[in-house]
Amino acid sequence: MATATVKEIFDLLRDDLAAIEQELGRDASSSVSTITEIAEYLREGGGKRIRPSLLLLSAHTLGYADRGAIRLGAVVEMVHTATLVHDDIIDGADMRRGRPSPNTTWGNEKCVLAGDWLYMQAFKVALEEKNLRVLDLLIELTQQMVEGELLQIQKLGKAVSEAEYYDLIYRKTACLFAVSMRLGAVLAGATEEQEASLAAYGRAVGLAFQIVDDVLDLTATEEVLGKPVASDLREGKATLSVIHAHDHGTAADRQAIQKVLDDRSFTRVSREHIQEILDRNGSVEYAMAAAGRYARQALQALAPLPDSDFKRALLWLPDFVVARDK
Ligand code: IPE
Ligand code: IPE
Ligand code: MG
Ligand code: MG
Repeated sequence: MATATVKEIFDLLRDDLAAIEQELGRDASSSVSTITEIAEYLREGGGKRIRPSLLLLSAHTLGYADRGAIRLGAVVEMVHTATLVHDDIIDGADMRRGRPSPNTTWGNEKCVLAGDWLYMQAFKVALEEKNLRVLDLLIELTQQMVEGELLQIQKLGKAVSEAEYYDLIYRKTACLFAVSMRLGAVLAGATEEQEASLAAYGRAVGLAFQIVDDVLDLTATEEVLGKPVASDLREGKATLSVIHAHDHGTAADRQAIQKVLDDRSFTRVSREHIQEILDRNGSVEYAMAAAGRYARQALQALAPLPDSDFKRALLWLPDFVVARDK
């Protein structure tokens, strides 16, 4: 089956995504103005809306076309937004979606609380579905994501193994992709097999997505990305390319990488030196090849599902995730 083009996909989802924006606008409003300001600020900043798009495609692939997909699309985007607010505090990041991050404008204290509020707002909207399975998935998801961020903090400064890396990125990113797909399936009354296929697709796309996010941190510019670059090493995070160079480079390469992770800065070892190490070891290519394998795994997961325009869009998305520049 042929894959779709960007324009076809945009046409396919345009009305639903517009409805989700409206829903998000309604949901971002609190009687306490600071919360509304922070929630609105993030919403206006845009973002790719990839998680709600996954949920919509999942539900529509199985023939669902009701209001629940709009609501739950907004829910997964709100959960995502809440994690971004908290993540930028934890990472000490100063830029998000091409603008100063909320923590730089409102400060950490207010942003912690705004993030909490957003999580609860997401659950409140999800409750309208009156489906315990939906709540169960969202609770499990939120705990996974929080555990992922906590594990990441525990491993800061360490050259973690690939297995540890994959566990982390599953929890902090791929789990939300998988749950977005699962929620679409639940709405559509999917069979167990269909739900498992769609969730496997979400997991694989999510893993590819975070691997590429981590590569872009090393290769992109802040102007294009809209958030800080070369920040993972400065935060003491070893991502897949760096793990590869650490495990396959010379003893000197390993020492240089460990120094940056220890210092959480490029003072003793320059960014250019790290770049040279990654280049010489083919480490970015290695990470991109891994992302490519997950993209193919995602396509395979779709095989049992019925053909439709929505499935064609799902077939297009993994390549987009791997080839994107922001
Ligand atoms: C950023 O996600 C957080 C990660 C999981 C890497 P996105 O890249 O989807 O962020 P927005 O929503 O488009 O800003
Ligand atoms: C994504 O990890 C964490 C979340 C799930 C919010 P990152 O820390 O790499 O995300 P960015 O790069 O800040 O968007
Ligand atoms: Mg971050
Ligand atoms: Mg990142």
